[in-house]
Amino acid sequence: MSDRYAVIGNPVAHSKSPQIHAEFARQTGEDVDYSRLLAPTGGFRHAVAAFRAEGGRGLNVTLPFKLEAFDLADEVSARAREARAANFLSFDGARIKADNTDGAGLVADLTRNLGVALQSRRILLLGAGGAAQGVLGPLLACRPAILAIANRTVDKALRLAENLRRQPGAAHTVLSGLGYAELGAHHFDVVINATSSSLQGEVPPVPKSLFAAGALAYDMMYGKQPTPFLAFAGQNGSERQADGLGMLVEQAAESFFLWRGVRPDTAPVIGLLRGL
Ligand code: ATR
Repeated sequence: MSDRYAVIGNPVAHSKSPQIHAEFARQTGEDVDYSRLLAPTGGFRHAVAAFRAEGGRGLNVTLPFKLEAFDLADEVSARAREARAANFLSFDGARIKADNTDGAGLVADLTRNLGVALQSRRILLLGAGGAAQGVLGPLLACRPAILAIANRTVDKALRLAENLRRQPGAAHTVLSGLGYAELGAHHFDVVINATSSSLQGEVPPVPKSLFAAGALAYDMMYGKQPTPFLAFAGQNGSERQADGLGMLVEQAAESFFLWRGVRPDTAPVIGLLRGL
């Protein structure tokens, strides 16, 4: 029988993870069966226990359960602890291991797929919710010159910046938390939208002058059309725009590697999902 994995969330019907992992399994010859698991709000622990009892080997965790997944684990990786959330669970005998592959997925997409060096660059992260928190540690580990966090609720950005200052390697980077209005005349080489504003068809109220020459605008969300943020960036001087589809595939590849010890080739899978 194939080894069983799934993505658990609510809602989960839209998730592309089963298609991505099916491609990884086909490509690597790993005998993996990966499905979707809808858990009721308040029913996460029960659903995980039932999946394990049926022989499930691991889960990817999506909204709204990433915090519960973190709390459930017996062992948490350093990057899950930094993110205070887990998108990855592995059932190893009696123990549950948790990790967070989102930040590694973003960094892999930026550096390997898009060819953007992050060291010594000026990075701006928009948003200070769970999505932002999940990627800050891995971004800091790339040693940018500046890592600024801007958010509508300024306190949350200040708190994330404060937490980051305690991370190893923080001395190499100027860290700041601020509001959108304070961005003023600052310019950034990489601007990453980690807010959920695209879901409301909105763009965070950032200055139009934000993008330095050659800047990349990145939206952690993706869709058939460019997100409102990417459209704004294209109209206001960013040289390149990229959505979060590559990050989605890269975080999946990191999960696959942690479970199976084999690293799949992501480029053909990204191409497939884009319909290329
Ligand atoms: P997620 O886990 O997706 O990050 P979240 O924790 O609810 O979800 O955080 C949503 C983020 O998007 C927050 O940074 C939020 O800003 P606030 O902290 O000020 O609420 C941001 N956000 C959502 N809608 C937004 C909008 N229309 N404009 C700007 N920021 C928005």
